[in-house]
Amino acid sequence: MNNLYKNGVVIIDFGSQYTQLIARRIREQNVFSQILHPEIPFSTILDLKPDAIILSGGPSSVYANDAPNFDPAILECDIPILGICYGLHLLVHHNGGKVESDGSGEYGFAEITVDKKSGLLSGISSPSKVWMSHGDQVIKIPKGWQILAYSKNNIVATIANKDQSKVATQFHPEVAHTSQGQIILRNFLFEIANCKPNWTTSNFIYKQIESIKKQVGRKKVLVGVSGGVDSSVLAVLLHKAVGDQSTAVLIDHGLLRKDEAKSCFKSLSNVLGINIQVYNESELFLSKLNNIKDPEEKRKIIGNQFIYSFERIANEMGNVDFLAQGTLYPDVIESGVSKGRKAHVIKSHHNVGGLPEKMDFKLIEPLKSLFKDEVRNVGRELGLPNSLIDRHPFPGPGLGVRIIGEVTKERIEILQKADQIYLEILHDEKLYNKIWQAFSVLIPVKTVGVMGDKRTYENLLGIRAVTSIDGMTADWYRMPHETLNKISNRIVNSVKGINRVVYDITSKPPGTIEWE
Ligand code: XMP
Repeated sequence: MNNLYKNGVVIIDFGSQYTQLIARRIREQNVFSQILHPEIPFSTILDLKPDAIILSGGPSSVYANDAPNFDPAILECDIPILGICYGLHLLVHHNGGKVESDGSGEYGFAEITVDKKSGLLSGISSPSKVWMSHGDQVIKIPKGWQILAYSKNNIVATIANKDQSKVATQFHPEVAHTSQGQIILRNFLFEIANCKPNWTTSNFIYKQIESIKKQVGRKKVLVGVSGGVDSSVLAVLLHKAVGDQSTAVLIDHGLLRKDEAKSCFKSLSNVLGINIQVYNESELFLSKLNNIKDPEEKRKIIGNQFIYSFERIANEMGNVDFLAQGTLYPDVIESGVSKGRKAHVIKSHHNVGGLPEKMDFKLIEPLKSLFKDEVRNVGRELGLPNSLIDRHPFPGPGLGVRIIGEVTKERIEILQKADQIYLEILHDEKLYNKIWQAFSVLIPVKTVGVMGDKRTYENLLGIRAVTSIDGMTADWYRMPHETLNKISNRIVNSVKGINRVVYDITSKPPGTIEWE
């Protein structure tokens, strides 16, 4: 993390599936929040000067051998603390209370009865609906603490120490199913912890511009852009900070959507006044992909060639000291906070930003404290057009992973034409913004058809549209039949090389969003 935003809320992640959600909910109240690993020394937390600490939920029991290690000084400090679920158990256990499992637990909706409508539960109705997800429960609260609410069977739902500077809930206030969860979080932030609501888009932009100016001085910066929202926002931010000392570079690997390189150039250069240079490297990429069918091999070839091209271009430019990357907060959390959790590699991802380790640049990552929706807000405030901000995500390897099997110039053209029609119809029907991501896939299968009394034997096209919050899970979009009909008709009638269209109705999991 950069040190621009100290203060705010530190969230200690004990492994809850909702930790990122807590961070987002806090930021929705314009308070900065950052997620830290439980093993972080308390002195480091103190350096961040947080206004408050939140102890997240987690899958362990406080008595379990594999319970996460943490610095107990956290629980003894005089910074206000909110414990959620496992966080509540920790506070209870550490302060001489008792937590136990009777094997039953509470999962899903529950109702709490509020005993004390003050402090954390000020303004909360009784009964009130909450979301529970716990096995263990409190059977004895610490001495001097008080119970603010119960759920059914007298299970302790909310507790506080005497002056309510340490509070805890058995339920999850961050989950939308807890109907008054936002009020509870606000009570904690503003009534108990005196947080300042200064995490705003305009503050963020102002501080980042100041910091970039200071860091870059009179030197030169390179920004890799892809036409996607993150790199575009990054390029605009850099431009605002250091003007033409920053150069945006778009490497056209020939696997972009139809006319994408041109339209990216236009919107960044003409509309936003950015100094951008486009390098057409498509022949090079295509030659490397010749005869390659395996998805992982394709991904690796494209990713590596990207690095070679970028290095060559940077050398040609000369005197470049900094490389700006569009790293976002979820990438930081993935690589740092949850270090040690092993994930099975499904696909090797390649990003425009995934370059530097071997390169001789200093890194600038101004977006690395932001979630995706916050990047979009920054983009809006910086004046990026909606057409750029609301774009569907597009993978680094581009159409290379949407042409199943071998990638050839001819197949790229077929897919580009079909995909353009597909997206045009979604825009016309005002469906584009209801969908997280929509795209076409060229399948290396030929099927028989009939057109104008003539037999055809052409390619099969898959079309996919999914809804999702973050791309980690996704559901297939229930596309209106009339729209599907229009898409299929127009593509088969106007794209030479395609005579059949199928709609992908696989969710993620078990499918992935991209086909390769
Ligand atoms: P999957 O296919 O893994 O995709 O379900 C999840 C999201 O990630 C995008 N994606 C990529 N994005 N570089 C990227 O920048 C990549 O290599 C890459 N592969 C997949 C995909 O489009 C979806 O939004």
